[in-house]
Amino acid sequence: METKAPISDEPVREIVAAPGAALPTADPCVIVIFGASGDLTQRKLIPALFHLACEGCLAPTFRILGVGLPAMDDEAFRAHLKEGVVESPETAHCTEDEWTSFSRHISFLAGDFGSAETMSRLVQALEAMPVENHLFYLATAPSVVPTLAQGLAAAGLNRQVRNWSRIIVEKPFGRDLETARKLNAVLAQHFEEDQIYRIDHYLGKETVQNILFFRFGNALFEPVWNRDHVEYVEITAAEPLGVGHRAAYYQEAGALRDMVANHMLQLLALTAMEAPASFDADSVRDRKTDVWRSIHPMAPDQVRVRTVRGQYGAGAIDGDAVPGWLSEQGVAPDTQAETYVALQLQVENWRWAGVPFYLRTGKRLPRQLTEIAVHFRHPPLTLFSGAGEKPTNVISLRIQPDEGISLVFGAKQPGAERKAVPVSMDFRYRSAFGANPPSAYAVLLLDAMRGDATLFTRHDGVEAQWRIITPIEDAWASMDGPLPQYPAGTEGPTAADDLLSRNGHRWRKIDP
Ligand code: BG6
Repeated sequence: METKAPISDEPVREIVAAPGAALPTADPCVIVIFGASGDLTQRKLIPALFHLACEGCLAPTFRILGVGLPAMDDEAFRAHLKEGVVESPETAHCTEDEWTSFSRHISFLAGDFGSAETMSRLVQALEAMPVENHLFYLATAPSVVPTLAQGLAAAGLNRQVRNWSRIIVEKPFGRDLETARKLNAVLAQHFEEDQIYRIDHYLGKETVQNILFFRFGNALFEPVWNRDHVEYVEITAAEPLGVGHRAAYYQEAGALRDMVANHMLQLLALTAMEAPASFDADSVRDRKTDVWRSIHPMAPDQVRVRTVRGQYGAGAIDGDAVPGWLSEQGVAPDTQAETYVALQLQVENWRWAGVPFYLRTGKRLPRQLTEIAVHFRHPPLTLFSGAGEKPTNVISLRIQPDEGISLVFGAKQPGAERKAVPVSMDFRYRSAFGANPPSAYAVLLLDAMRGDATLFTRHDGVEAQWRIITPIEDAWASMDGPLPQYPAGTEGPTAADDLLSRNGHRWRKIDP
């Protein structure tokens, strides 16, 4: 945020919807954030909402009401939120007087989520506000979600009479198929499915949404997007960061639950799904769920062969020494929670039968890289020889960083020799479109305020995801012995390379 003070003594300008803004305008509503004193609210939600306000996307009557345990007044809450906004690149272009104007719409209500008294104070606070539509954001520990859903319903806040009422639920949606089913059942007792927005922030990323535009907005790629032409697909989400202060959560989750059960299965579904009948929420979600249902749950002996786990040991990231996972603060020395996972999934349908989808994700890998790489089959004849490797065609959809798409193909190396070498054609968002896209949270909050659930996960989708993940977790739980270690800053355990090499395939380098 620009820290310049307002240059004149004129009253601070109200933030209102700007006609012709690039993003659409939200319905007027109150955004009630439970867990408002937490990290997610400060680092992601408020910067996203402030960004939307600065873009003119929020109605002039919008309100944000934070609910949390600490005894804080409105001013203290706003000061706490401002610390997050100042740090956020998303609002770097917003000014101090825009913050002053925006923050006037924010208030705080201290209270225990489980108490009926908190709910009745919430009802009173909402009745005093000028808007009747309510978006409840549950930025809380998952264990509180059922209590909150029930408390909101008991207070009548799930009702939609002249207004709408929606609830956003953060991941994790349970920790296995059974708990996910129970959570869905509790939510369904109190809210209609079209009021429930299960958020997966990956779906709000501009580059993730572009997967469908790339596939179904062009005539060129879809005819070769199938088992006749594709040899294998790699999906990578690598992070240099360690687990840091999230050790308690991460020990319970591990990389498979934390990243694969949601974000990576979403990337896989968008890569593999059939064209939807239209771009409405249910058509898109139907086709994604078809993909997850086509991945047969693994039997325990398949889990041994098709999955690899690992934990980072001590090593170096960008030249700085970092400790191993088992020596991080708060981590049990015998934890079996994996910080790395690689797996081979098979999408058993007409389009993809026989094509391996390899997924890998891990902490303390050499650098950040999230990409989908589609490797095409070799040409039927090798007419051009030469030392080195046969070039193959690869389309890589780069989600982050350096967002873009590239196509690798073989070209003749200049000179007398008839030798093909790999070259690439690149599209980069930054050079093509200039400005940085809105954050994933801004996109998704705006969609929820407009009633568009296309980028949110439906109850059957969540269950279909757990149907893939739970048998893997169960098989792992019955396997003994320490997990393979990989030094921090390297590309992961060597067993992950073997997973591909036995099929004649190879991961792209994370750190080229
Ligand atoms: C979160 C996971 O859902 O996604 C984190 O809990 C992970 O462990 C994060 O770091 C990655 O998100 P992004 O947007 O930084 O790729």
